[in-house]
This record gives sequence, structure tokens and C-alpha cells, in this order.
Amino acid sequence: MTEVLSTHGLVAGYGDFQALYDVDVEVHEGEAVALIGANGAGKSTFLRAVMGLLPVAPDMVHFDGAPVGGTPTDRMVQKGVAIVPEGRRLFTGMSVSDNLRVAIDQSSRFERKGCWTLSRLYQLFPILEEKARTPVESLSGGQQQMVSIGRALLCQPRLLLCDEISLGLAPRVVREIYAALPEVRAQGTSVVLVEQDVGLAKSASDRLYCMLEGRVTLSGRSEEITREQIGEAYFGGGHAVG
Ligand SMILES: Nc1ncnc2c1ncn2[C@@H]1O[C@H](COP(=O)(O)OP(=O)(O)OP(=O)(O)O)[C@@H](O)[C@H]1O
Ligand SMILES: [Mg+2]
Repeated sequence: MTEVLSTHGLVAGYGDFQALYDVDVEVHEGEAVALIGANGAGKSTFLRAVMGLLPVAPDMVHFDGAPVGGTPTDRMVQKGVAIVPEGRRLFTGMSVSDNLRVAIDQSSRFERKGCWTLSRLYQLFPILEEKARTPVESLSGGQQQMVSIGRALLCQPRLLLCDEISLGLAPRVVREIYAALPEVRAQGTSVVLVEQDVGLAKSASDRLYCMLEGRVTLSGRSEEITREQIGEAYFGGGHAVG
């Protein structure tokens, strides 16, 4: 299987504080990989390091076989990596469609083209078409998350990084959002899912990695990994996860 993303002994942090230690992660083409772990384990830091938001050495991150560690974020987006960030970070004071148009304008300048258009996105999340002229701050949390995902998809990613897209949402809305992922993957897009809900992470991914205090403590095929293994990797031993 073709490798889209790989990290090699990835270390990253904030000033003097080291948040990642020797993290090796691989993502293959069309694959969904879940990244789980307790608060502060380093999941968002991993995504930030991949996106060029933290300084890392070039060889620590490979995309499409080439070293890209430390590449500025806008260049990473151009290369085909998009992030649905923690907290969504939409442009408030702007409508749904204007938020989405920012991504369309940005990606129209890329050499690389993709299949996502506004109408295709509205098929994926019909509510966004209904709310196209609504300011994003008037939307529900789930609808805002759909805009955030839409904005990332309109960058035509080959790799989509999702940071806790289910956080704070009702189960029905979470199901609706996760139901869109097979369609995304059907375009050949690989997905990294940072997820606190272990059951959801397992069922939505092909493989998973568990992190603890900046290190990968478990990895394998999601269907083969047991709750006991996850409990141990999650807390460092002796606990089971509900
Ligand atoms: N901007 C920052 N400055 C300093 N330390 C930070 C910063 N962001 C995160 N950290 C620290 O880095 C470590 C990893 O944080 P990170 O946000 O990557 O965890 P996480 O796994 O995403 O957790 P959560 O589930 O709470 O989102 C934590 O100890 C955190 O306190
Ligand atoms: Mg986080």
C-alpha cells in the first residue's frame, strides 16, 4: 500500500517543554487512522507538527515520500494536507458560504485539482446549503463542525487531519458527521482521526495509535486491538476503558 504520511522519530514541543518523543506513525493511501489518548497526551501537537505549525526537522515528517517537516502550513495545504482544527476556528461574522469560499479561492490557486465543489459539499451536508447565508456563529455546534470539515475538503486534501470532530456534539450529530467519512475516503483521501471516544475511534478506523505522555504506547489494526490493551496503553497500565 502506498504511504501518504509517515513520521520518523518525531519530536516536538513548546519552548523548553517537550510534548512528543520519537513518534513513528504511518498513514497509507485511502486509510483511516485513529489517534487516541488522554488529555495532554500529545495528539493535537502531533497534528500541529505535521501541519508545519511547530518547528521540526525535515526528515521527521514525510508526505508522498518526500521530507516535509517544518514546511510552512500554507505549503502543506498546497501539497494536499488539510486540518479540521480543535475548536473549529471559523471566520465569525461571515456566512457559511463565505467561509467555504475562502477555501475555494485558496485552492483555486493550487496546481493540484480535486473533486470537491460547493455543490458536492452541499450533497454531503445538505443542511449547509439551507444555511448558506447564515452567519456561522448562529449555527449549532454540529453545523459549525460541518463547515469546518467542508472548508478542509474544499482544499482538496489527499490527507485530512481531524482533531476531535465529535467533541461536545450529540450522538445523533456525531453519527451524521462520521457517516460522511466513507464518502471522503472513497475519493482516495486518507484520514487521521484524533478522537477521545475510543469506541468511535475503533469503529471508524482501519488502524489506531494510542499515545501517552508524548509517546506511542500501542498501535495496530483497530478490529484486532482489545479494550484491555487500549486501557493499558491509555493510562499506563491496569485500567480498562468503558
Ligand atoms: N501552546 C502550548 N504551549 C505550551 N504547552 C502546550 C501548548 N499546547 C499544548 N501544550 C502541552 O503539550 C502537551 C500535549 O498537548 P496536546 O494539546 O497535544 O494534547 P492532546 O492529546 O491534544 O490533549 P486534548 O485531548 O486535551 O486535546 C500537554 O502537556 C499540553 O499541556
Ligand atoms: Mg488536543
